[in-house]
Order: sequence, then structure tokens, then C-alpha cells
Amino acid sequence: MSMSDGLPVLLLVHGFPLDARMWQGQVDGLGDIRRVLAPDLDGHGAARGRPPSSSVADMARQLARHLDEEGVEAVDLGGLSMGGYVCFAFYRLFPHMVRSLALIDTRAAADSDAGREGRDQMAAEIRDRGSLVAADAMLPKMFTEDAPEAVRLEAQGWMLESPPEALISDLMAMRDRPNSTELLPSIDVPTVVIVGDKDPVTPPAEAEAMAAAIPGARLERIANAAHLAPVERPGDVNRALRAHLGS
Ligand code: MLT
Repeated sequence: MSMSDGLPVLLLVHGFPLDARMWQGQVDGLGDIRRVLAPDLDGHGAARGRPPSSSVADMARQLARHLDEEGVEAVDLGGLSMGGYVCFAFYRLFPHMVRSLALIDTRAAADSDAGREGRDQMAAEIRDRGSLVAADAMLPKMFTEDAPEAVRLEAQGWMLESPPEALISDLMAMRDRPNSTELLPSIDVPTVVIVGDKDPVTPPAEAEAMAAAIPGARLERIANAAHLAPVERPGDVNRALRAHLGS
């Protein structure tokens, strides 16, 4: 028995081009109030032996199967960026399993036409040159210039270890994800929108609009954080999650 057995489950979904290791600060920091489950999406991290999903709905179904295997009926659900897109898909498919939502450095809108082309282009480059392409594109956006070099290098390592075929499937899933803007007013579970105040990928203005569209949602800006706020500022993100989960 670990200390968190018997506690409600917090399920955290990782972003691109990452794996579940990005949630270590939350696994370590929230275990007294939740059993924190941070699974690797199929094809990623410890689940690299399984074929990756190329739609956010399939990713959500995979998570529901995982919960089923664990005997978990309902969760507090959180996701970062691509993980947030998966949260929307999960909420659409399994609303009865979602106790609350934490949308972290993510957005509700679908990709623009230019965004979709960018996905195809990155997928083609990853096919040619490997995961380095995604790491090079994303690392500069993940952290502020104040982030310790060791943190940056660790995250770069996670990205470089991501299997290229998983990253290509992620890009297809993000490219084809539905627009979730119309879903926002119907979300009827407690929701927090968390954003790094220097996030260049899903900027604070998008987070504000998303929080404003979800009835009763709370907005938490994390000072001095970019896209990977839970890794750069785990203490501040954990404080925001505690306030949300305690409410
Ligand atoms: C992520 O961080 O998961 C992705 O960058 C999100 C995106 O590209 O839309």
C-alpha cells in the first residue's frame, strides 16, 4: 500500500513531443491529496512497444481502457497542450468519468490551414531526420531564459528519446483534432485553466478566452514560465492544482 492508495485519482496527460516524465513534479508534489496517474500515451515512453494512436479520440479511449484496468471509475483530469486536446476528447466521450478538468498550456481551437500544413511539414522532416526535428522546434518554446540548464537538457533528452513514429502520429492527431470551442460553455465540472505567462505556443490570451467561455472556470497565470510550466515551475503549478482540487 502506498500513501496515495484510496485517494481520488488525478490523471495527467502529457504533451508533444514528450512523455509522462514531464509530470514528475506533480507526481512528487500532489501525492498527499491525489493518487496521481501519469501514463505514457501508446507509442511513447514506457508504452513505446504499443502502436501509437493518430487521433485524440483514440488517445482518450486508450486512457479510458487504462483506467478500466486500474478499476478507476472517475478522475480529476488534466493535460498539457496536446494532453489538453486529449482531455477535450475524453470529456466528449466519457463525461461521466470526469470529476474536474485542468487545462494547462493548451487551447480549444482546431488548427488553422497553415497550422495543418505545418504539421505535415514537421512529420515529413521527422521521417527524414528523426525526433531531433521536434526537439529543435519545441525546446526554445518550452522554457523561459531563466530556466536552469539542467532542466532544459533533461527535457531535451525526453524529446530526443521520443520514437519518431509516435511523434508523427501525434502530429496527425493534432492536425485533425476537432474544434472544441463550442464545447466550452457546456463544460459543467470544476475547471482550472493554467498558463505560463510567457507561453509562446498557447499564449495567455487564449487561456483567458478559454476560461471566460467555461462556466465558473478559474484562470491561473504562472509567473516566469513558458509552455512547459509544470516542469519549469512545478511548485507554482502544484499550488494552482491544489487550489483547484480542493475547491
Ligand atoms: C504540445 O506542446 O503538446 C504541442 O506543441 C501543442 C501543439 O503543437 O499544438
